[in-house]
Amino acid sequence: MTLLKIARMGHPALRGRAGAVDDPGSPEIHALVADMMETLEDIGGAGLAAPQVHVPLRVVLFRVPAERIAEEPGAEPMDWTVLVNPVVAPLGEETELGWEGCLSVPGLRGVVPRHTRVRYGGVTPDGEEITREASGFHARVIQHECDHLDGVLFPMRMTDLSLLSFTDELHHGLADEVAARRDTAGSIP
Ligand code: NI
Repeated sequence: MTLLKIARMGHPALRGRAGAVDDPGSPEIHALVADMMETLEDIGGAGLAAPQVHVPLRVVLFRVPAERIAEEPGAEPMDWTVLVNPVVAPLGEETELGWEGCLSVPGLRGVVPRHTRVRYGGVTPDGEEITREASGFHARVIQHECDHLDGVLFPMRMTDLSLLSFTDELHHGLADEVAARRDTAGSIP
């Protein structure tokens, strides 16, 4: 097992379209996923996509940590999901705003609109076919990770760049200001 180096915004690894995986159950994919999971456990974080570790393949992993859904009625924490060749599609027109960060955009947080509800699917390295519906943070994290497979980083999805901030400057008031807009701007965790 190996801790992997994370590509940062601007690196070409993050800018292309990742290729489909021909054999999701191959030893190479199992090894990649094990290293990605070890890397993410080491750093802490909710998700990671293979292009972030310089591998141009359609592989993502993510989880729904309890602390990210504390204010989401009915939401359940979820342990790791690994998806190879994932697809994600919106359910309905509704979008909502929420704070995001990214290991490839270290030190920054931004408010990003995402589809409130999505259906997603893919196959695991163990051959299990997964199809799920998701909402809230769960829907957000899968949209964020799948964006990495198409060279899209969260700042590219932002509609108001005045809501891009260094994480350690948020306590000066921006987080509160954004939370106060919750009623008109949708849910902001
Ligand atoms: Ni990311």
